[in-house]
Amino acid sequence: MNPKWWKESVVYEIYIKSFMDANGDGVGDLAGVLSKLDYLQELGIDVLWLTPVFDSPDHEGGYDIRDYRKIMDKFGTMDDFDRLLEEAHGRSMKIMLEMPLNHTSNEHPWFEQSRSSKQSDKRNYYIWREGRGSGFPNNWGSYFGGSVWEFDADTEEYYMHLYSHRQPNLNWQNEQVREEAYQIVKWWADKGVDGFHFNSIAHVVKTEGHDDEETGNSQHLPVERAYQMFSSLDKVNGIVKRLHDELGADYDIVAIGEAAGLDPSQTLDSIGDEPGQANMVLNSDHMLLSHASQGIARWTTQSWTLLDIKNAISHWQTVLHDQGWNANYLADHDQPRSVCRFGHTGEYRELSAKMLATLLMTLEGTPSIYQGEELGMVGGVFRTAADFRDEETLNFLDHARKSGMVEEEALKIARRNTRDAGRTPMQWASSPGAGFTTGEPWIGVAPDYEAINAASAVADPNSVFHYYKKLIELRKVSRTLLYGEYRLLLPLDKDIYAYTRTFEDETLMIVLNFFGGTPTFHCPERLCERPRELILSNYEPGEVQAHTFEMRPYEAAVYRLG
Ligand code: GLC
Repeated sequence: MNPKWWKESVVYEIYIKSFMDANGDGVGDLAGVLSKLDYLQELGIDVLWLTPVFDSPDHEGGYDIRDYRKIMDKFGTMDDFDRLLEEAHGRSMKIMLEMPLNHTSNEHPWFEQSRSSKQSDKRNYYIWREGRGSGFPNNWGSYFGGSVWEFDADTEEYYMHLYSHRQPNLNWQNEQVREEAYQIVKWWADKGVDGFHFNSIAHVVKTEGHDDEETGNSQHLPVERAYQMFSSLDKVNGIVKRLHDELGADYDIVAIGEAAGLDPSQTLDSIGDEPGQANMVLNSDHMLLSHASQGIARWTTQSWTLLDIKNAISHWQTVLHDQGWNANYLADHDQPRSVCRFGHTGEYRELSAKMLATLLMTLEGTPSIYQGEELGMVGGVFRTAADFRDEETLNFLDHARKSGMVEEEALKIARRNTRDAGRTPMQWASSPGAGFTTGEPWIGVAPDYEAINAASAVADPNSVFHYYKKLIELRKVSRTLLYGEYRLLLPLDKDIYAYTRTFEDETLMIVLNFFGGTPTFHCPERLCERPRELILSNYEPGEVQAHTFEMRPYEAAVYRLG
């Protein structure tokens, strides 16, 4: 089991733009984060995962970086960063930086030089290709819709971008690029940050050849294949090893890799506890279930069942046990809120948020809470196209308009899927601006902030916030929740998600009613011969010793088996 601090930590993702605005310009900032450290400490958070803080024109939430060694003006200064790091460390909290190194901004000086001439010594820092006939070098589709290729008139070639055309892809096949990236990471490690979240790391080297026939058009492929097409894994493994070797021995750093679309078995070569390995890999399969494909096709949602979720999560739990380590999450800045996707937004909002919290905190792996998830936040209201900010959503609306879709239909689809739904400002208080800003927020505050906000949640001992707190406390002292083996129970039950975690001679049984009905739980015989003690639930205790009992809507219970 090899205990490590990062296995025993609870991570909290801060999407800085929407977390807390200290200077009233409507955009969250580092001073805002600093002002909320007490709140995060009270919740029990160990690691703050900051979405990119670097200098950026901010067309893509700061994921379009212009200078990796400078702080984005809107977020503050390097002094603000240093103060945050120091104050966090003073509270025994750690800081993990999200580090997008698959691409830069098109305003990065490397790109400006690269595009200036085919002879530039930075030309090969990016991926340039000649057009094929009169068209794109190949038929790959970008995650944000359209081709991955953008024509650049100055040198009459195309550059590759997996996301926005303002995010050209770095060419990681070039040793100079790799060296630059390692130096950037070391520079931040030397500053004292405690970890990195390597965004899109599985995509830094694409599959060879860029060959249509072999790979097909990613916009028309099932989502897993589209993702894999962008990942040349043997090369990526080498890069991850080297990244960690560069840091390994000298720093006690945690590294999380984003590897959406990969099977857990494909990550085993590069994760583990040994020097030269990444530590955790983000399991995203359950998050991808509702999307049939990528690019524009991502907007066509497909329905999921609880069996799909159980299968996806159980596969990762089982394959990585003792071999690697999961980074678990149910929400982030790229998804609508977890209660909207997996829970209930009406009368069962709080119960369903607590049920989902129970799942997140009782799986094997390091859990990550997305800001506002601990309040059961629901998200914004987007009446017209002007209410959206996210480039991916705006591209979709534009595409829908051009292809003749009725505006209201397009808006309906956008509201259901938009990443903006998870990016509305954190709701701190019932005051105007939800206590997030005294100015005009960069994206609309959700209208429910008077009812759903941190101030009232902290004051109410039955709130989702306090339930998270209890779960976090429980997890921290339980070897079984931290390191116990996961076993799925009742694999075919369509309403109840139940599993055990076993460590040495202790077994915990977690039972979750995933929906608003009242299904009957049939406790598997071998387990229910043992007495059981209810140690946490989102309801008042029901009948504990019966072998079968009716569950209440969104009921969650953690039992210790004697
Ligand atoms: C990651 C981020 C996402 C961003 C993308 C491209 O997937 O989570 O928000 O759009 O990288 O930068």
